[in-house]
Amino acid sequence: MVLHRILLLVTLTLTTMVNLYGGEDIVADHVATYGALFYQSYGSSGQYTFEFDGDEEFYVDLQKKETIWRLPGLSKFGDFDPQGGLTEIATGKYNLDIFIKSPDYTPATNDVPEVTVFTKSPVTPTQPNTLICLVDNIFPPVINITWLVNGHSVTEGVSETSFLTKIDHAFLKISYLTFIPSDDDVYDCKVEHWGLEEPLLKHWELEIPAPMSELTETVVCALGLTVGLVGIMVGTIFIIQGLRSNGAPRQQGPL
Ligand SMILES: *[C@@H]1O[C@H](CO)[C@@H](O)[C@H](O)[C@H]1NC(C)=O
Repeated sequence: MVLHRILLLVTLTLTTMVNLYGGEDIVADHVATYGALFYQSYGSSGQYTFEFDGDEEFYVDLQKKETIWRLPGLSKFGDFDPQGGLTEIATGKYNLDIFIKSPDYTPATNDVPEVTVFTKSPVTPTQPNTLICLVDNIFPPVINITWLVNGHSVTEGVSETSFLTKIDHAFLKISYLTFIPSDDDVYDCKVEHWGLEEPLLKHWELEIPAPMSELTETVVCALGLTVGLVGIMVGTIFIIQGLRSNGAPRQQGPL
């Protein structure tokens, strides 16, 4: 699969210096990505996002021409004209079309994505929680991340981030599944990507520490008792021997 892609990143690093009374300087670094965009020939698809410290603030829905905030509350803090994103994407497309025609271009190669599944909070059975499927090292940004519960595909309670940008130009994407932990259910995060020969399944299930079986308990008890008894016996023998050697009449030397 030959894929052409263009990625432009505008990254601004804000550095805040805080001088504490009598203390050293504490430096807090924040990275805001204003307008990360990619455009690729596959499906003529692209993405335009704003990020702050690795979290997505919003993306521009290129079809609906709308700014979509990652969390509803975020729109209170700002406003973004989606047209800005659309213009940038159009420029990306224009440049890519030129690059493709140039004899020097190299088509993109597929990376192997890395998948990790974990929960948002420590797990307590029957307490609602969120399963997180973090897919790192995604390149090209064409992927399907889905959830299986007991082997069946589910869509309810599922949400995902846009492709989040990384320094090395691969992408990160996170999928979420809200769920109620139960030891009756098993979960899989299914990832399809050209870098994988077949879909990758990352498994998760509730792990309740298995209670010790009665036989194990009996064996442990018997062993403990035996060791204890042997100890008492050996101790007693030593004491008796000690008493004997102390009480034995001393050899008297010739006077
Ligand atoms: C994602 O799923 C769609 C629909 O099943 C399929 O056509 C496409 O090839 C999949 N993409 C990848 C990267 O496997």
